[in-house]
Amino acid sequence: MYRTHTCGELRQSDVGKKVTLAGWVQTTREFGPITFLDLRDRYGITQLNFGGAINARLKDEHLGREFVLQAQGTVIERSNKNPGLSTGEIEISIEDFKVLNKSAVPPFTIQDDTDGGDDLRMKYRYLDLRRNAVRKNLELRYAVGRAARNYLHGQGFMDIETPFLIKSTPEGARDFVVPSRMNPGEFYALPQSPQTFKQLLMVSGYDRYYQIVKCFRDEDLRADRQPEFTQIDCEMAFVEQEDILHMFEGMIKHIFREVKGIEITEKVERTTFDQAMWHYGNDKPDIRFALPIANLKTPASVYPIQRAKALKDDTSGILNAFQTGTGFPVFDDAETVVAIAAPGLSEYTRKQLDELTEWVKRPQIGMKGLAYIKCNADGTYKSSFDKFFPETELKKLAEYAGAKPGDLVLVLAGPEERTRKAMSELRLEVGNRQGLRKKDEFKLLWVLDFPLFEYSEEDNRWVARHHPFTAPKPEQISVMIDNDPTIPDPTAYLQHPYASVKANAYDMVLNGNEIGGGSIRIFQRELQEKMFAALGMSPEEALHKFGFLLGAFEYGAPPHGGIAFGFDRLCSIMGGSESIRDFIAFPKNNSGRDVMIDAPGTIDLKQLDELQIATKAPVK
Ligand code: AMO
Repeated sequence: MYRTHTCGELRQSDVGKKVTLAGWVQTTREFGPITFLDLRDRYGITQLNFGGAINARLKDEHLGREFVLQAQGTVIERSNKNPGLSTGEIEISIEDFKVLNKSAVPPFTIQDDTDGGDDLRMKYRYLDLRRNAVRKNLELRYAVGRAARNYLHGQGFMDIETPFLIKSTPEGARDFVVPSRMNPGEFYALPQSPQTFKQLLMVSGYDRYYQIVKCFRDEDLRADRQPEFTQIDCEMAFVEQEDILHMFEGMIKHIFREVKGIEITEKVERTTFDQAMWHYGNDKPDIRFALPIANLKTPASVYPIQRAKALKDDTSGILNAFQTGTGFPVFDDAETVVAIAAPGLSEYTRKQLDELTEWVKRPQIGMKGLAYIKCNADGTYKSSFDKFFPETELKKLAEYAGAKPGDLVLVLAGPEERTRKAMSELRLEVGNRQGLRKKDEFKLLWVLDFPLFEYSEEDNRWVARHHPFTAPKPEQISVMIDNDPTIPDPTAYLQHPYASVKANAYDMVLNGNEIGGGSIRIFQRELQEKMFAALGMSPEEALHKFGFLLGAFEYGAPPHGGIAFGFDRLCSIMGGSESIRDFIAFPKNNSGRDVMIDAPGTIDLKQLDELQIATKAPVK
């Protein structure tokens, strides 16, 4: 037997017991005739006390960090207890030991505040994984997965595996492809998600399916994106949108309860895509803090309902002034003018304002400048556009933006899309600076009623905003049936009837991150064909790519819908980290490389020949 206990197990009540521990050497400290050695494993650290002859033997071994050691001895009470350690009340008086394996000097220290940089830790990820912080992340991941499985099992969901070597599934990214040796010149695609398979399972009658499953997408990577990531993928038959929202709200609440001990009693808030864009400039708003956008000027074609209501509700007349002309060319020449009232920032100095202006001018944000109104505590106003706005107008604008004395109103003006997006980023930045985005606060939100289509400028055609299997709102099916998808005037695409078709699609947002998305599906062949045609697919192409699904819809496909959660993302937010990499045992870096195993790599000519593939890149 290698060990009787783990290194995190022994307590005061075990004093007197003969034990054997095994683990890694964390540190050794010599105090004359005694050496203290911290032995570490997955469960914790236990202090070993080597005295007398056994200490002399230990010294002969020249033990270093990360040596693997087995040691026997008696549990004794420690004279100087360490309350920071679960085993801090005891130590083991060692009677015998054995070095099970040596270790080279590790390239970085295996402790919480390691001296290893990111690249080095990724190269030696198997050592990085020994660190507490990383282990805790993986433990959280395991707990989230287990809670999801328990919940779904309890609700009658069946875990069914779907294949990895498949044909392209359109989730909007590039496919990773795998050549087929047995079918020269042909390729499998790795699934971007099990979307079509889970729909086929509904046709087969497995009316509650789930899978915690790898998905593969060849897309540009960011902190919250990996080329292979994991989804909690779910599908249900005989359901409407409300059934799905209810079921998965339940799942997320269950996960929070089981994993973090957080009881979310209130119903998850809901908003529509249009409302989210209007109020926050973003379809995944962080609602841990309010700070809504004041829409001072917007083109009539976007968010027409919100715009009309705002114009009607405004008694101050400030919106009208913006529509007809304020006299300030920056506002008057702009398509869109938006503002937020940053709480308590009126004391910002010239230097701080300049720095914030530079922030919005960065290429990622792309604005030409930043206008502001300081709402001083004494009720006066000071603005960067005083020259064009009398104080009474400044006051109106500030009040419309929801500012109180002491606040700083920040105004952006420019083209609609860019300005709205920039304001969304600025809102988050103000949230960060003001400490309004607390890591231990969790705020869920459903975003509903997404547009079914998005306009692709590049191809002058419609693309599916979610994916081509998403159903339009039932009352808008006729818009698709009755209208030609062709866009005669690309500059007026917003006027095309398709632009206003909404989908039965929903996203779940947690603290400003999209953690899940899904939809009610099309389940009739005719409508699915119509959808493919709307996306510019010829009937032949649709049949070639999705003939299996169209065929299945002819054999009694039930109404169905589903959702998939980004498992890695959910874990990272619950664990309070920006990067999903911290929650993946063996992640890829930002260039999609696994620097530990050095993949991707070239393959030898023989293998390429077998696959009947020639590459343009040099082959080793
Ligand atoms: P969608 O593409 O929205 O939907 O993906 C679902 C969720 O998966 C997460 N996600 C990612 N996480 C890490 N890295 C990535 N590259 C990545 N891409 C997506 C997000 C996202 O919300 N088949 C549909 C679901 C459905 O309709 O049921 C789908 O895959 O958190």
